[in-house]
Amino acid sequence: MRIIAVANQKGGCGKTTTSINLTAALALNGKRVLLVDLDPQSHASLGLNVDSQDSIYNVISKIAPRKLSIDQITRSIDNKFDLVPSNVLVGTLEQELADEIGREIKLATIFESLKGKYDYIIIDCPPNLGFLTINALRASSEVIIPVETSRFSLQGVDRLLDIIRLVKDRLNHNITSRVLVTMFDSRLRHSFSMLDIIKDQFSENLIGTIVHLNVKLKEAAVAGKSVLDYDKYCRGSKDYFSLAKELIAQEQSKESSLSPMSSTMKKVVKDKIKDFGLVSFAFSAPEAKSVYVAGDFNNWYVDESCRMRQKNGTWSASLKLRSGKHQYRFIVDGRWQEDPANPNRAENAFGDANSVVEVV
Ligand SMILES: Nc1ncnc2c1ncn2[C@@H]1O[C@H](COP(=O)(O)OP(=O)(O)OP(=O)(O)O)[C@@H](O)[C@H]1O
Ligand SMILES: [Mg+2]
Repeated sequence: MRIIAVANQKGGCGKTTTSINLTAALALNGKRVLLVDLDPQSHASLGLNVDSQDSIYNVISKIAPRKLSIDQITRSIDNKFDLVPSNVLVGTLEQELADEIGREIKLATIFESLKGKYDYIIIDCPPNLGFLTINALRASSEVIIPVETSRFSLQGVDRLLDIIRLVKDRLNHNITSRVLVTMFDSRLRHSFSMLDIIKDQFSENLIGTIVHLNVKLKEAAVAGKSVLDYDKYCRGSKDYFSLAKELIAQEQSKESSLSPMSSTMKKVVKDKIKDFGLVSFAFSAPEAKSVYVAGDFNNWYVDESCRMRQKNGTWSASLKLRSGKHQYRFIVDGRWQEDPANPNRAENAFGDANSVVEVV
């Protein structure tokens, strides 16, 4: 069972949106998932149309008039995944348990009884570093830190990393942390500059999937649904689906390092690889700070997998593409443009041209 806290004390950086939609996307991939709303604002619960009288407060509090078990407060969301709802009383726990010894392990202890029942528990944390967030970190094996690409988005991330280190050292608990870029607006040069800064700062601790700005994510929350239920073909759905796939692939890579690939599987992989060809993209721009290549092969997404590397002023990337014709463009410091070295072009819907490459 993987327990993942979605935490950042900065308000409005996409914690709840990530928690709800990552949960839904993992469930769509056949995983048994529990979403725990640990924020007294109850946005995750309300975002799934759940307005509950009972919450984790009834499980943790000693003075709650109705003492309940975690199973008793858990709701099924359309038989797809489960939710432990929150309500405003959850905010009183910090004060109630102020002097209690072992207050940091309340949630971890409760989760003990859920072993074997879920593949993933996702915890939506409140926007502060108090008792509830510490409990979530202590109960988790991983933390996802959503960071938007706005000007002050990195403020406070250091403090959160300090707290995670404290949980590791003082509470003797192993936890890995990774940053997720959210609300990425590929129309703005500023987003690309921020992405570079975030990449420099977090390098291998940056999640490959980037969540783009997409109004459907907002609309879905207002409609009380996950984005995958609201509009499964929108960019928000694709991004959170890809995030779920990335997390699941980590499980599989752990497993495959334990069990070698069977010979039948090796043949299937070999046959599949035949349909692909390696395409090398290159672009000369010594002054540029970042260059990406995006095209129909990756749904025109800008993310880490299509970031080009720079050497002596030339940016390059090699991608395995399926046989056939592909349209693409370069994104140079946030500006979309065609490949000046490639005369093969096709007009696009914006009245510009896309570059065309063929894999035979
Ligand atoms: N990728 C996105 N594109 C467009 N809107 C988004 C995106 N992610 C989040 N939002 C919107 O931004 C607002 C803040 O997001 P969200 O509630 O997920 O942040 P939060 O970190 O949970 O906030 P809080 O700190 O208050 O708990 C919401 O209105 C949400 O619908
Ligand atoms: Mg929230």
